[in-house]
Amino acid sequence: MNRREFIVCGATLVATGCIELKACNLGLGKEPNDLMPPFFSLPDLSPHISLQANQIHYNEHFVPVSNYVLNEYPLVYDVRQYNSYFNHCHYWQGLSIEPSIPNNFVKEIIKESWGSFSRLYNAVKEKCFEVTGSGWLVVKAFDSREIVIDFIGNDDEKMRSNCLISIDIWEHAYYLDFRYDVEAYIDSIVNLINWEVVNQRAMAAQLT
Ligand SMILES: [Fe+2]
Repeated sequence: MNRREFIVCGATLVATGCIELKACNLGLGKEPNDLMPPFFSLPDLSPHISLQANQIHYNEHFVPVSNYVLNEYPLVYDVRQYNSYFNHCHYWQGLSIEPSIPNNFVKEIIKESWGSFSRLYNAVKEKCFEVTGSGWLVVKAFDSREIVIDFIGNDDEKMRSNCLISIDIWEHAYYLDFRYDVEAYIDSIVNLINWEVVNQRAMAAQLT
């Protein structure tokens, strides 16, 4: 996308509302931003994440970033703010208190790469301890079937369509409930994985 297309895309956004953003390639990669919702409401994640902690995370961190990105774009464009917005959308979309299960394909690719979900889960926790600084833990499908664990420092990148599960490991995501106990936070997050969404993401990763 050249600069003119970039600006036209942004002008479309301003003229028609943020839904158009879904169809715009912002020049950050080849993938459309098809996982980005215009806005969504605060998800209920209690008791695994307290309402107070989630409200602070959502209202005091996410909403200002959302307003900045959606209101100012493209006149003021900050790639990290944009990535932060997108990554938080990805994170919350992937969490739910409603019970769900991985489909056969997701079970199969996890088993192929890790032997079992519990081994993947333990590896995610080990990865947390290797991380210094803030960012995102990501479970993603590499070459459509191989499941790998990755880390995005800060908001240097946005989630790609092969990202199946994202975990916000900025302190603002867990400190109020768990202080520095990241492991306890991960133990809570695993109860919240929205496998219906993960199943859809795995399917999309197959197609890219
Ligand atoms: Fe966050």
